[in-house]
Amino acid sequence: MKDSLLHLSTFLKNPKEVGAVAPSSKFLTKEVISSIEFKSLNTIVELGPGTGTFTRAILEKAEPDTRVLCFEVNKKFCRYLSNNIKDRRLTVVNSGAERLGIVLQKFKIKNVGCIVSGLPFFNFSDKKKRKILNEARDSLNKQGRFILFQYTNGLSDMLKSCFAKVNRKFVPVNVPPSFVYICEK
Ligand SMILES: C[S@@+](CC[C@H](N)C(=O)[O-])C[C@H]1O[C@@H](n2cnc3c(N)ncnc32)[C@H](O)[C@@H]1O
Repeated sequence: MKDSLLHLSTFLKNPKEVGAVAPSSKFLTKEVISSIEFKSLNTIVELGPGTGTFTRAILEKAEPDTRVLCFEVNKKFCRYLSNNIKDRRLTVVNSGAERLGIVLQKFKIKNVGCIVSGLPFFNFSDKKKRKILNEARDSLNKQGRFILFQYTNGLSDMLKSCFAKVNRKFVPVNVPPSFVYICEK
């Protein structure tokens, strides 16, 4: 099944969890990917990969020995990613982003240099938002970056309370137009 069809049908079944009718546009993907400093990253974590729009772009640019660990709650998306992206650097974990720290421990990964998120934070409770942001911050190394996109500016205050540095870029060509945040601790 084509990415956009699977994305739409899964959205219709779980609108809150999927959070968008279509995968991110190439413009938004380009903006997110351009914020990753790929050089010498041991591990890149992706939260909420869906059908893999960011995943493919990450793997295209990642170094040959960089591990890419994707956290996805939806089983169908997990199966789709594993069946359609054949890359030995990729591991798809069927788990919520809330369990980031525990799962990294299981993989014996102490910390990571980059976390990219496609999560629909706007549909999450404040408690869940805070939990995931704390997990992301605590999983980053000193120079690490947490990169996410949002359709509104609503998460801005929470991001600023959690991270020492928060930069924002606007991407008008996406449905809907989006903000990309680059957070450092
Ligand atoms: C808006 S879609 C983004 C998909 C893709 N990254 C993109 O940009 O096109 C959000 C994705 O987050 C996943 N998701 C929702 N809650 C999650 C959670 N707590 N942990 C991990 N993934 C989650 C959904 O299943 C969906 O695949």
